Amino acid sequence: MMRMALVLCCLLLAATLARAAFYQLPPQPPQNRYGDLLLDRVSSAAGQKPVFFSHFTHRLRDTCRVCHFELGFAMKQGETEITEEANREGMYCGACHDGLMAFGHNKGHCDRCHTGDAQIDMETFGQIRQQLPPSPWGNGIDWSRTLDAGLIAPRYSLYHPEEQPMGYDKRLELSANWSMVPPAVFDHKSHGRWLDCNNCHPDVFNIRKKTTAHFEMRYILEGKFCGYCHGKVALPLDDCNTCHPGIKMR
Ligand code: HEC
Ligand code: HEC
Ligand code: HEC
Ligand code: HEC
Ligand code: HEC
Ligand code: HEC
Repeated sequence: MMRMALVLCCLLLAATLARAAFYQLPPQPPQNRYGDLLLDRVSSAAGQKPVFFSHFTHRLRDTCRVCHFELGFAMKQGETEITEEANREGMYCGACHDGLMAFGHNKGHCDRCHTGDAQIDMETFGQIRQQLPPSPWGNGIDWSRTLDAGLIAPRYSLYHPEEQPMGYDKRLELSANWSMVPPAVFDHKSHGRWLDCNNCHPDVFNIRKKTTAHFEMRYILEGKFCGYCHGKVALPLDDCNTCHPGIKMR
């Protein structure tokens, strides 16, 4: 009994310390700006204002896979060589912003992308958010429950509408290297609805459980492994419990 109490006590202390002292989580942006980007690899240098891109509005209609697999956008700001010429030829933004599916790359529309400021106005944001299941994190939306409930139906493929997720649904329990920390769960099913296998394998993770080197929380917090998406666009790293069910935080 004493021993149990001691272990419990250590667990609580360790988890609390972990959060307060080791893990310097960046402050959360306002909900309407979580996942917003201001692209300026070439714009300012060419005399145009930087380009605004909202993950929040775009993921309502398209899965990550459409942009980050089919259209070849990198999952790191500034890495993709997006140019106005490529856009006009129907690549990158121009795959949709062609004047048919979405406003095009013609005069009169330049300022809708080259805004110089990343923001979806609070009214538009509030109206959409209100209709979706809430979450304390990120955009304030529980995106998994949103899909479960069929409230949105983002495209899985832009070019092959009949294509479906592969149906590899294995759920993994990734035990931590620290004995008092409950394992992290990783569910292929909830990720496969948004992503392609290729978004994670083989560059981010090995295709074999517990074989990825340096797969630790401190690297995740630096934006590696799960932190590649979580903390930037997918639910933020403050949400310890969703990944480590049962972790005690206070
Ligand atoms: C409509 C297209 C589109 C969709 C859909 C989309 N993204 Fe992106 N994403 C982009 C673009 C464009 C960039 C910037 C790429 C660049 O600058 O090279 C980006 C960048 C990112 C980054 C890097 C952010 C940073 O701060 O460096 C991450 C992470 C990311 N996306 C994850 C996701 C995830 C996860 C989803 C699905 C929930 C998603 N994206 C859906 C277009 C999209
Ligand atoms: C759908 C969004 C979108 C629209 C509309 C748009 N652009 Fe762009 N534009 C981009 C993106 C994205 C980039 C690359 C951003 C960066 O600097 O990282 C870019 C880059 C540029 C550049 C940088 C130099 C180069 O050759 O790429 C110029 C100049 C430019 N756009 C001019 C225009 C003009 C003029 C219009 C209107 C006729 C326009 N853009 C409309 C998204 C857009
Ligand atoms: C997979 C399709 C798709 C791609 C790729 C895409 N967009 Fe869009 N985007 C849309 C649609 C659809 C709308 C809403 C329709 C409209 O307003 O005409 C939209 C709306 C927007 C808006 C208006 C504000 C908002 O967020 O609703 C901006 C700004 C924008 N896109 C910028 C971009 C930029 C910059 C890129 C490339 C970096 C890009 N989009 C790539 C489909 C796409
Ligand atoms: C969001 C990231 C992500 C995506 C997308 C993803 N996986 Fe994985 N996968 C992982 C992680 C994390 C592991 C465990 C790696 C480790 O522990 O070193 C893994 C492990 C695996 C394993 C080994 C399982 C075991 O028990 O050893 C297989 C097989 C696998 N993935 C197949 C796939 C296939 C097929 C797809 C596409 C349908 C896919 N994965 C998509 C992250 C992903
Ligand atoms: C390539 C991007 C990417 C990577 C890498 C990634 N995730 Fe995710 N994850 C997502 C997206 C997108 C969602 C959907 C919910 C959201 O956007 O908040 C999600 C959701 C989740 C959820 C909630 C799922 C549910 O069923 O409610 C958990 C838990 C999770 N991820 C754990 C992990 C873990 C653990 C890792 C690392 C082993 C990881 N993820 C790596 C993109 C990613
Ligand atoms: C996106 C999912 C995700 C979130 C959110 C997350 N973790 Fe982790 N965490 C992991 C994964 C994956 C591991 C590595 C598991 C392994 O060793 O295989 C891990 C490992 C750990 C470890 C073990 C030591 C180490 O460095 O590997 C601790 C302690 C930990 N996490 C604490 C936390 C705390 C505290 C939070 C909240 C502030 C948190 N985690 C949020 C996925 C997550």
